[in-house]
Amino acid sequence: MSRDDDFVTVAKVGAIAEGRGGTFTVGDRLVAVFLSGGEYQAIDDLCPHMGASLGAGEVFDGAVACPWHAWRFSVCNGKWLDNPKLSVDCFEVRVAGDEIQVRRTPRPKS
Ligand code: FES
Repeated sequence: MSRDDDFVTVAKVGAIAEGRGGTFTVGDRLVAVFLSGGEYQAIDDLCPHMGASLGAGEVFDGAVACPWHAWRFSVCNGKWLDNPKLSVDCFEVRVAGDEIQVRRTPRPKS
């Protein structure tokens, strides 16, 4: 599989409002995609606390608040803001024409 083939179209540009997100299937994963500060960002959809869907959360200052118990995760790198040693996977996002595309393979953890 070539590097370009690793991207999956999840939605059309404009389908996600600023400060909001959505949950999409990317390969065998559920990925939460957000529009934050005019940039699309993608992290694992599954909250590591009790499994809520992070894609249903709202974004403030570059962090999504889990809709169940408000744990906050950076939408840029997936780190839990209360303890950055814990993080969820983070995915590269690109816009191709009018499509939002997410890479299947998560970014390496930093
Ligand atoms: S399930 Fe996400 S904070 Fe509890």
